[in-house]
Amino acid sequence: MKFFIDTANLDEIKEAYSLGILDGVTTNPSLMAKEGITGEENIINHYKAICNIVDGDVSAEVISTDFEGMIAEGEKLAALHSNIVVKVPMILEGIKAIKYFTEKGIRTNCTLVFSAGQALLAAKAGASYISPFLGRLDDISSNGLELINQIKTVYNNYAFDTEILAASVRHPMHIIHCAEIGADIMTGPLKAIKALANHPLTDIGLQKFLEDHAKGNK
Ligand code: E4P
Repeated sequence: MKFFIDTANLDEIKEAYSLGILDGVTTNPSLMAKEGITGEENIINHYKAICNIVDGDVSAEVISTDFEGMIAEGEKLAALHSNIVVKVPMILEGIKAIKYFTEKGIRTNCTLVFSAGQALLAAKAGASYISPFLGRLDDISSNGLELINQIKTVYNNYAFDTEILAASVRHPMHIIHCAEIGADIMTGPLKAIKALANHPLTDIGLQKFLEDHAKGNK
C-alpha cells in the first residue's frame, strides 16, 4: 500500500518524507489556499518545491472546468516535473480531458469521486488514479469504505489498471480499513499517518526495558 500525504504544507511534507515511508503527495485548491499560496506563479513554484522534497507522485489540480482549459492547465502542470500527476475533477469535461491526457502519456488523478459509476467512467478514460473521498461520505452518514470495496470489485472484474487512491482519510482506522480492503494508495493528514505508530503497550514496554537496562548497568 502506498502512502501519500494530503497537504500543501512544506514542513509536514518534509516531516512525512523523513519517516521514509512516504510515496507521494496530494494537494487541492483548498489545501493550497490554506497555506496562503495564491496566484498562478506562486502555485507553480509551490508544486516545484514539493517535487524537490519528495521523490514520488505529486498531484496538481486543474482549476478549469471546461475541456480546453483543463488541457492547457494540465499540460503546463505536467511539464513542471516528471512526478506531477494532473488532478482532474470527476465531471464529463474531466472525463474527456483524462482520455486526452491518457493518449498523450500524461498521468491523471480523477478527483471528487463519490460513486462506483464515476470510478468506472474514469477507469474507462484511462485515469492513472481515482480518488474516492471516503471521509466526506462518512460525514453525510454514507459509507466511504463500502464505496472503496465496491470500486475494488468493479476494477478487479475487468482488470482495470487505474489505481484506487483512498482520499479524504481522517484517522488511522480509515487507513487500516483501506489496507484491509486493498486500496492501492491512501492519502491522509500527517496526524493520521503518525497515529499508526501509537500503542500504550509499546510505550509501557519500552519504558520498562529502559528502566531495567538502567538498573542492570548501575
Ligand atoms: C484528495 O486528494 C483530497 O485532497 C482530500 O483527500 C480531501 O480531503 P478532505 O475531505 O479532508 O478535505
